[in-house]
Amino acid sequence: MADSDQGGAFVEFDRVQKSYDGENLVVKDLNLSLPKGEFLTMLGPSGSGKTTCLMMLAGFETATNGDIRLDGQPINNIPPHKRGIGMVFQNYALFPHMTVAENLSFPLEVRKMGKSEREAKVKHVLELVQMGEFGGRRPSQLSGGQQQRIALARALVFEAELVLMDEPLGALDKQLRETMQFEIKRIADDLGITVVYVTHDQTEALTMSDRVAVFEDGRIQQLAPPDELYESPQNSFVAQFIGENNTLEGTVKEIKNGIALVQLDGGGLIDCKPVNVTKAGERTRVSIRPERVEFDKTRLHADAHTLKAEVLEFIYMGDIFRTRLRVAGQDDFIIKSRNAPDQVRLEPGSEIEIGWLAEDCRALDA
Ligand SMILES: Nc1ncnc2c1ncn2[C@@H]1O[C@H](COP(=O)(O)OP(=O)(O)OP(=O)(O)O)[C@@H](O)[C@H]1O
Ligand SMILES: [Mg+2]
Repeated sequence: MADSDQGGAFVEFDRVQKSYDGENLVVKDLNLSLPKGEFLTMLGPSGSGKTTCLMMLAGFETATNGDIRLDGQPINNIPPHKRGIGMVFQNYALFPHMTVAENLSFPLEVRKMGKSEREAKVKHVLELVQMGEFGGRRPSQLSGGQQQRIALARALVFEAELVLMDEPLGALDKQLRETMQFEIKRIADDLGITVVYVTHDQTEALTMSDRVAVFEDGRIQQLAPPDELYESPQNSFVAQFIGENNTLEGTVKEIKNGIALVQLDGGGLIDCKPVNVTKAGERTRVSIRPERVEFDKTRLHADAHTLKAEVLEFIYMGDIFRTRLRVAGQDDFIIKSRNAPDQVRLEPGSEIEIGWLAEDCRALDA
């Protein structure tokens, strides 16, 4: 009986380790569990082990230790053609000598499906990716985005329940990439398929996924829905990696009533939410988002600590204003404010005071 029928995990990594050379672990004790229908993205810097995880799940690489289970069964026990896994790579990997329709028919022929059924499925999947007219063309006669649609169709044509995508949009320009992000998400939702998606584009990860696993050096640093990842990073790596972020270093002076008072190395005292610090004397990196910094004193608590700042640069970006400040000896402190009728445009050279709600400023690991 499949686990997923009882609402359990569909894909499971259980203490998985991988070494290519028998010495260095490129995947370290990875635990991950996805329910059916989830869109999960592995996000992380180059070399952090994302593709390796995908390859192990697809069965092209074996785990050095631990288990990978699909629908409750260890993956090693399932022959590749019965895994029902579709794959989409960055470089489409379509057969150049076949037409689009032949490319799509191929995975079905391998599965010994009859001709008329094959034709019906190919027609259906071409419509799904909005390429109904293109069945007779060769890949070289298509644009990059069209080729990527066909590669996606090929992963879907045999009704895979699980589709793995490794940087599928990396070769496309920004606009096409955004269209395809939307398309992939729509198709995945419509078909109810489970997707494991790899990217190092954080915007792509945040906009497409139900949950994002942030990888660093073979480990998952945090696994959470996009909003939680952005608003409640659990450590300074995630805070730096996801979204724009101001970092200040200092030492915890005291923790009282759920607020950490931090003495900054560059001078000044600030109020923070203690996330990875527990006592006075600990080193910390505090993280504050540019849009949560306040420079209108009337909007801060009367007893809030503030920092002196010098305005270095004001950038008008249409919808928002982006201002660079010198704060606590650092000249890369960014604040963002919405372009509203009453919003002030800060003058370079002026001195201001900035502050924030303690809960918006996270005291993380040093
Ligand atoms: N076949 C291989 N043999 C030996 N080492 C490998 C092999 N494939 C990957 N590695 C190493 O394993 C580590 C993880 O690689 P992996 O391809 O999983 O990273 P990634 O997160 O997908 O990176 P990228 O974003 O650059 O694609 C890297 O240090 C890489 O050099
Ligand atoms: Mg990779």
